[in-house]
Amino acid sequence: MRKRIAVMKGDGIGPEIVNEALKVLETVASKYGHHFAYNFVDIGGVAIDNYGTPLPQATIDACLEADSVLLGAVGGPKWDGVPGDKRPEKGLLGIRSAMGLFANMRPAKLFPQLAGASPLRGDIVARGIDFMVARELIGGVYFGEHKTETVNGERVATDVMPYAEHEIERILRVGFETAMKRRNKLTVVDKANVLDTSRLWRAVAARVAGDYPQVEVNYMYVDNASMQIVKDPSQFDVIVTENMFGDILSDEASMITGSIGMIPSSSLGEGTRGLYEPIHGSAPDIAGQDKANPIGTILSAAMMLKYSFGLAEESDAIEAAVNRVLEKGLRTGDMMSEGCTPVGCRAMGDAICAEI
Ligand code: NAD
Ligand code: IPM
Ligand code: MN
Repeated sequence: MRKRIAVMKGDGIGPEIVNEALKVLETVASKYGHHFAYNFVDIGGVAIDNYGTPLPQATIDACLEADSVLLGAVGGPKWDGVPGDKRPEKGLLGIRSAMGLFANMRPAKLFPQLAGASPLRGDIVARGIDFMVARELIGGVYFGEHKTETVNGERVATDVMPYAEHEIERILRVGFETAMKRRNKLTVVDKANVLDTSRLWRAVAARVAGDYPQVEVNYMYVDNASMQIVKDPSQFDVIVTENMFGDILSDEASMITGSIGMIPSSSLGEGTRGLYEPIHGSAPDIAGQDKANPIGTILSAAMMLKYSFGLAEESDAIEAAVNRVLEKGLRTGDMMSEGCTPVGCRAMGDAICAEI
């Protein structure tokens, strides 16, 4: 199989973790006889430095021409003073939107080898952690109007959170479809006791649920959900939620599996072209030190193989290799526990390649 992959390494640890994912993709390509052609383009802070904008048109074009896209992470202290609409993060929001990627899937799955790295109590972890956060990605407060004005001599900032019915319906359907392939349970997370968007979300969910009678649906307020995720994560199968709630809950969900560095994501729209990225950020505190955990990015590449290219066997081979490396006790610093062997980012990537 021949595929074109647009690659955006981004900022901070982005280049380090993406390099390891590329090594893994090349290992898979040579083992299974595929050819991946990479088109390297800039996004985020590095694009600001090179082109004066976090999302150059050439980057958008490259992503739209590719069969799929791999991303590291964007942002860092160097660009924190940049105005909001020109920040590195704005480039990320822009490419998600330009590609129409409304469904961001973030699996919170505990590798049993990492049970000791979870901050949760052993008896809670033992019940199992395996759920999917389906996050709406191109609507809500991230994409509503943002402004800061002066009113009566003081600054007033406003961020608007709009949701159209069709935007809610399409991510809900992804949530239901995903639940049907898993344990048939969907939790709609919202703040319907306060927000109109959430009340609309519930109304649409009640209607769409009629098409999925096999799926058991429940509704949960986001504040309660954040508590339930640490109290008893085994109760969740699929969580579907709006953009910002999904951002926050997925970081929380990642940590209970041992480390945010482990968690991959896929972002898809109507077609098979997706954007694949770990859920964490550019980790400026450890950038350039060969300390980053590349597994979230490596598993993102595995998701790309499965969901954009239909290469399930190759994808499973990567996941199995990650499993074996964890079994051998190799750990980057973020997921270290007693008796394990510390390795850096490159050594972790090499070890995973060797297991493939
Ligand atoms: P972060 O996720 O970058 O880091 C939070 C903590 O987790 C840090 O201590 C970091 O060292 C650690 N961490 C994250 N990924 C790791 C990995 N792979 N291996 C080991 N440790 C890891 O979040 P932050 O510090 O809030 O944000 C830093 C920058 O990243 C900001 O500019 C932010 O806007 C940006 N950001 C980008 C993305 C993205 O590109 N998708 C996501 C989140 C944050
Ligand atoms: C993520 C990040 C981004 C988001 C930021 C960097 C815009 O936190 O991918 O989780 O909030 O979507
Ligand atoms: Mn986030």
